[in-house]
Amino acid sequence: MLIKKPEIPSSEITSKDLYLNRRKFLAGAALAGAAAATGIAFRALASPSLTAAANAKIDGIQKSGLSAAEKQTPYKDVTNYNNFYEFSTDKYEPAGAAKDFRTRPWTVTIDGAVKKKQVLDVDSIIKMAAPEERIYRHRCVEGWSIVVPWVGFSLSELIKRAEPLGKARFVEFTTLYDPKQMPGQRVAVLKWPYVEGLRMDEAMHPLALLCFGMYGEVLPNQDGAPLRLVMPWKYGFKSVKSIVRIRFTDDQPMNSWQLSAPNEYGFYSNVNPNVDHPRWSQAKERRLGEFSKRPTLMFNGYDQVASLYSGMDLKKNF
Ligand code: MTE
Repeated sequence: MLIKKPEIPSSEITSKDLYLNRRKFLAGAALAGAAAATGIAFRALASPSLTAAANAKIDGIQKSGLSAAEKQTPYKDVTNYNNFYEFSTDKYEPAGAAKDFRTRPWTVTIDGAVKKKQVLDVDSIIKMAAPEERIYRHRCVEGWSIVVPWVGFSLSELIKRAEPLGKARFVEFTTLYDPKQMPGQRVAVLKWPYVEGLRMDEAMHPLALLCFGMYGEVLPNQDGAPLRLVMPWKYGFKSVKSIVRIRFTDDQPMNSWQLSAPNEYGFYSNVNPNVDHPRWSQAKERRLGEFSKRPTLMFNGYDQVASLYSGMDLKKNF
């Protein structure tokens, strides 16, 4: 998503991507072979030092009817190929760079147009509702996608308890600003801190997930610990990581990518194969760990959100 470097045709980005993945695949195959020979589970070999924070199991996870019945992306791909610019613009680096990121103590400020303005400890948020496993497709604006068993509950659970005022038409989410811990924030690739926004009805949709885990375990740092959003029908950049503030407002908030390149990234950012990014097509995507591309689906296949946008021109409101 970097916009300051010279433009590279998407065909070349893809071939570099494929090359790197092939390298990873070969390395993975070698590890898997070694694992089979020694009887050690392959999962245990997935860069243990890089994923140490993800070891804690989450108890009492319930299955969700909102899950997609699809093959899950391997854990090692989801935790070693990340967009988390606070740590690095290189997708292979957040796993290592976020290894010692401190996610406790952690508070989330709820403010703006809301009855219950408060500062909540993240663990009290996590305990607000029963954790559910939601297997969602997630599509990055850059053309790669993943299928992940996220753990969390509907964002609406938190919003209802905060009691937004009638004039609150939007919700803004802010990531931690801490350049000492987040080396990427020492570079002006984006205006820090990272911010994102949703319209209130989008935020209240049952699919909008407040997420604190994946694959049955606590969220690894590189995937947005301790608390992130997962918006499965929108491009991945809407799924803001490591949230410290949730602000209710009557004005449509700007988001970081929109601030950085308003002609390329919009407020809605719904997955839409018919509206290309100015620099590349959005018609197809490649699942991490797979070689061939597949067609991208409108709203990433989550047709149940279509009514939120009825009557809107989604080419203009991209
Ligand atoms: N949140 C913050 N704070 N900083 C980021 O750089 N990147 C976004 C989103 N949330 C990002 C972020 C983008 S572009 C994507 S595709 C997803 O996180 C990637 O999530 P993943 O690394 O867990 O797959």
